[in-house]
Amino acid sequence: MPSETSHSPRPTRALSGIQPTGRFHWGNYFGAIRQYIDLQPGGGHQAADEAYYFIADLHALTTVREPERLRGFVRDAALDLVSLGLDPERAVLFVQSDVPEVTELTWLLMTVTPIGLLERCHAYKDKKNRGLPADAGLFTYPVLMAADILAYDATVVPVGEDQVQHIEVCRDLAGTFNHLYGEVFTLPKPRLVDGSAKVPGTDGQKMSKSYENTIEVFEEPGTLKKKIMRITTDSRPVEEPKEPEGDHLYQLFALFAPETERQALADLYRRGGFGYGEVKKKLLEAAGQFFADARARRADLAADPDRIEAILGAGAEKARAKAGAVLARARRACGLDRSPPVKQAGKRA
Ligand code: ADP
Ligand code: TRP
Repeated sequence: MPSETSHSPRPTRALSGIQPTGRFHWGNYFGAIRQYIDLQPGGGHQAADEAYYFIADLHALTTVREPERLRGFVRDAALDLVSLGLDPERAVLFVQSDVPEVTELTWLLMTVTPIGLLERCHAYKDKKNRGLPADAGLFTYPVLMAADILAYDATVVPVGEDQVQHIEVCRDLAGTFNHLYGEVFTLPKPRLVDGSAKVPGTDGQKMSKSYENTIEVFEEPGTLKKKIMRITTDSRPVEEPKEPEGDHLYQLFALFAPETERQALADLYRRGGFGYGEVKKKLLEAAGQFFADARARRADLAADPDRIEAILGAGAEKARAKAGAVLARARRACGLDRSPPVKQAGKRA
């Protein structure tokens, strides 16, 4: 794999996409967005040299069929991400469909994609197994995702466990293309978000839009309170000592509270003699405080729609410059240009 071993140390370029299929919830923040922010250049020892993050509206089209809702989700996603700390000065933030080079690259990759590979991918397979109709968009979704990654020469892709299969497909397609046409693409690696960071929803299952158990990051204060008060708890008596680990209310509190408060609550659980209502009040306060600054930034940003448009416009311009260069490389390699053949240094026999 020459692109992985040829030069070291190689600059790292982080890239990830997030679908605008609803408002972001606590699971999205702790399981994805927070890591994007940590990976921004200048963000500590974890940070990448460059970072590209995009709002995956082309992917969302396979599920959101109402144009007004899609527009709203894209705008909200941009506002949310910037308010939460994604810094457009340090990371390139853009909307997927603003970079048409990616869809052209998708086609080039499609010509080296075995059908069987896509049939094994879970988004399509799950839908088919449930007897639901799937469209070609969902079927070919991993190819678009591969193009998303390869178009920017990304080296590291922060994702949740469910996306690792797609990164494997991406590596597979890039490898095949490189084998056929020379070293065009950089092979990326997934960076798994810590598995223990799986955020539970209000019913104790994994928090997910599909389970309708989410608490949004920028929930209205009244709704936030209602949702927290409705978090399911067991009916053991107040005085009974309880084990905090494995209790979803405790796990949610632990996401927001500093270590000392976390410890204090764990001790209280083990002693017994407390009510879940008390814990819910603590959670409400801790979550409110945790997102207070982001909420204030969001209100400012939302009041000035031109600013977010300018951020996305500048992001798209930078993203197109990079993707354009990679696409030109790919086009040239496979013979889609009419200039004389270019000698390909990395081409193997
Ligand atoms: P949803 O399940 O609500 O539709 P998505 O699949 O759009 O959420 O998730 C977007 C990102 O957020 C993914 O990287 C995913 O791994 C992460 N994520 C979603 N829900 C959780 C959760 N409950 N805990 C941790 N990470 C999550
Ligand atoms: N498929 C990803 C998800 O549903 C979103 C996504 C699209 C993505 N393109 C990507 C993630 C490229 C990482 C890299 O969460």
